[in-house]
Amino acid sequence: MTRALLLALLFPANLAAQTPADQLIPQVSHAVALPGTWHLPDTLRVVINRPAAAPVVGLLREILPRPVVAGARNPNLRLQVGSGPASNESYTLRISEHGAEISAPSISGLRWGAQTLRQLIADTDAGMIGAMEIRDAPRFGWRGAMLDVGRHFFPASDILRWIDVMARYKLNVFHWHLTEDQGWRLAINTYPRLTSVGGWRTEVDGSRSGGFYTQAEVRRVVAYAAMRGVTVVPEIEMPGHARAALAAYPALGCTGAQLSVPPTWGVFEDVLCPTEPTFRFLEAVLTEVLALFPSEYIHIGGDEVPKARWRACALCQATVVREGLGDDEGLQRWFTARIADFLGKHHRRMIGWDEILNGGAPKGAVVQAWQGSDRIAVALKAGADVIASPAEWVYINRSARELPLERILRFDPRAGTDDSLRVLGGEAPLWTENVISPANVEMMLFPRLIGFAETMWRGPAELGEFQRRLTPEQRRLESSGIAFGPAAADLPGIALRYDSTANLLSASLVNPLPGVVIRSTSSGQARLHPDGMVPLSDTGMVTLQLVRGDSRIRDAHRITIVSHLARGKPVVLANPPEMQYPGTGAHTLTDGAQGSDYHDGLWNGWLGHDLDARIDLGQMTTVHSVALSLLEEVRSWIVYPSAVRVELSDDGTTWRAAGGETLGLPVTLDGRSLRTVTITIPAGGSARWIRVVATNGGTLPAWHPGAGNASWIFADEVIVR
Ligand code: ACM
Ligand code: ZN
Repeated sequence: MTRALLLALLFPANLAAQTPADQLIPQVSHAVALPGTWHLPDTLRVVINRPAAAPVVGLLREILPRPVVAGARNPNLRLQVGSGPASNESYTLRISEHGAEISAPSISGLRWGAQTLRQLIADTDAGMIGAMEIRDAPRFGWRGAMLDVGRHFFPASDILRWIDVMARYKLNVFHWHLTEDQGWRLAINTYPRLTSVGGWRTEVDGSRSGGFYTQAEVRRVVAYAAMRGVTVVPEIEMPGHARAALAAYPALGCTGAQLSVPPTWGVFEDVLCPTEPTFRFLEAVLTEVLALFPSEYIHIGGDEVPKARWRACALCQATVVREGLGDDEGLQRWFTARIADFLGKHHRRMIGWDEILNGGAPKGAVVQAWQGSDRIAVALKAGADVIASPAEWVYINRSARELPLERILRFDPRAGTDDSLRVLGGEAPLWTENVISPANVEMMLFPRLIGFAETMWRGPAELGEFQRRLTPEQRRLESSGIAFGPAAADLPGIALRYDSTANLLSASLVNPLPGVVIRSTSSGQARLHPDGMVPLSDTGMVTLQLVRGDSRIRDAHRITIVSHLARGKPVVLANPPEMQYPGTGAHTLTDGAQGSDYHDGLWNGWLGHDLDARIDLGQMTTVHSVALSLLEEVRSWIVYPSAVRVELSDDGTTWRAAGGETLGLPVTLDGRSLRTVTITIPAGGSARWIRVVATNGGTLPAWHPGAGNASWIFADEVIVR
C-alpha cells in the first residue's frame, strides 16, 4: 500500500493533506501516518536527553521559522541522541498531538531529523501537522556538491547561503575548489603572494577581477557548515591548474618564467615542478589548510596535468631517473604519493581526481571519478574508494538543456559496479568559467542540485513525482531570495540579429525567465532602445548584459558600432561559415557591429577554410582602405589568417589586386587578441565590388595541444572607408 493510500484510508482528506510526509525532499525511507494532529505552538520548547544534543538546539534556532527555547518546562520538542558513530546518519521523527520527538543514534542523524522537521513546519499553512512516524537513513554517506571559486570568486556570505540550502536537502559535503589557474582564493600566511598576486587577474577587456577568503572567513564557513552537518572538503590543486600559484611564486615552475594569472580557460602547460623546494611550499600550505579544515579528507586535485614542461625540465628528468619512475606519469604518481604520505602522517586521507589512477593511485587514496561512468569501475578495480562525479551525469556546469533535472534524478553512482560499498557516494561539481555571479551560480545549481540530493539520499526518482514535491519548496526558496534556473533548458541568453533594410541591430532575450532582463550601457551615441533595437546609424560602444536584480548572468556582449561605406551592403561568401557561428545573419561582416568574444553572437567562424567575401557597394565608390576585423584565441584553436588580401572590381567579374598583408603564426598558447588588418588602397582606387580573402592559418602547430588539427578563422566586420 502506498503511503498516500494509507493516509487516505486512515484520515479524512483534509487531515491527510496536513500530513505532508510525502511532500519531503529528499523523500524519507519510511513514513506512517498516526491518529491525531499537532497544533504547532508559537514557541518550540526543547528538551534534550544529553548535552551532546545541545548543538542541534542551536541549529533549530537558526532554521525553524518559530522561536526555539531550550530546557523549558512543558516541552513540545524532544531531542534524543545516542552514542553511536557520526557515520550513522539515521533518525526517527515522531509527531503526536503533544509535540515532536527526534531520536537518533548520533548527532548526525539528529541534524537531519531537524531538517525534516524544518520542511514539515514550512509546509503547514494551517499550523497543524498530522501525527506520524518517520524512520529515515541515507543511501550514501557522501552526498556532495563542489563549487569552483577559482574561475570566478563568490563572497563567503553567498557560500553560507548555499551551504544552508545543501543542508536543507541533507547534502553533507561541500567540496570547496579553492585554487585554480585563474585564481588562488585561500589566504596562506606563509605565502601572502598566493592571494595578493594569485587572487587577481587582468581580464581580456583590461579590467581587474578577483578576490580571496581570509582565514577568519574560512573558519566561519567551516563552523557554519559543521553546525548543519556539512563537512567542508578543501581542494588545493596540484601539480596542475596552478598558474595562479606560479604567477605568485615563479620558482615553483620548471622554467622559472614570470607568468600572469590567465583570464582565459583551458588546460595550461605550466605546472608545479616537483622539486624539494616545491614540496616544502606545498607542505607549508597544507599545514595551514589542515589547521583550518577539520575534514578527514583533503582534495589535492591531480587532474589534467600536461607533461610538456616536465619533459623539457632537467630537474624533473633527473628525478625520473633517480627514483626509477620510468616516465612522466610515474613522476606524477611519485609526486602524489609523497603528498598522500604527508597527509597520512597528519591523519588525513587524500582525494584526487581520477587521473591519479594513471600509473597507480597511492594506497588509501579516494578517487573522484569524473571523466566518465567507466572511471568508477576502473577506480574500484584499482582498490580505491570512489566518489562518483561522472561528467555526463552530474556536471551541473553543463546547461540544463544538455543535463536536465530528469537525467540527474536517474543518476545512480553504483550502477554497473556490483553495488560496491566502496562507492562512498557522489558529488555534483559546478565549474564556473561561464558562471559569473551569485545569482548565476544559483541558476545553475537549482533546481538540479536538489534533484541530486534526492538521488543521493533516497535513490533515483521520477521527474513528475519529484516536480510535485519541488514546486512548493521552490516557491519557498525563491521567496527567500534564491534564484532558480531552468530544469531542462539553457539559461536565458541574448540573440543579436541585423536588419540591413532598417539598418538596425536587434537584441532579444532567448529562454526568458522571470526577473531576468537585458541591461545596456553605452558610450558615444549608440544605445539599446527600449524595443531592443540598437540603431546602427550611431557609432560608439554598447554593452548588453543579462541581469537578475544586481547580479550579472553570463558574460556581457560588448559591441563596438562602426560607421563605414560597406555597412548594410550585401555579402557573398565563397565558403559558408560553420553552423555554430552564424553571427547576426547574412550581413555579419557588414552589420557595423564588432564583438569582443567569439561567443558573443557577432562573429562568423570558418574551420579549416578561407574567408572569401565579396561585397557589393551598389555603385562606383572611391575606396581608401579595406580593413578586416579578426579575433585570435590560440587555446581555442582560433588563429589569425596567414594572409589577408583585397581585390577590387567594377563589374563583380574582373578583379584586380589592391594590396595585402602577411600575418605571423601564433607563438604562444596564451595568445588572445582582437586585431584589425587594414589594407590601404593606393591613391584611393575606385570600385563597386570589394573582395577580401583571409587565408586559413593551416593546421595547428606541433606545440599546440590540438597539433595537426585544422584551425579556425574568426571575423566580425569588413570595414571600408
Ligand atoms: C575536472 O573536471 N577537470 C576534474
Ligand atoms: Zn620541472
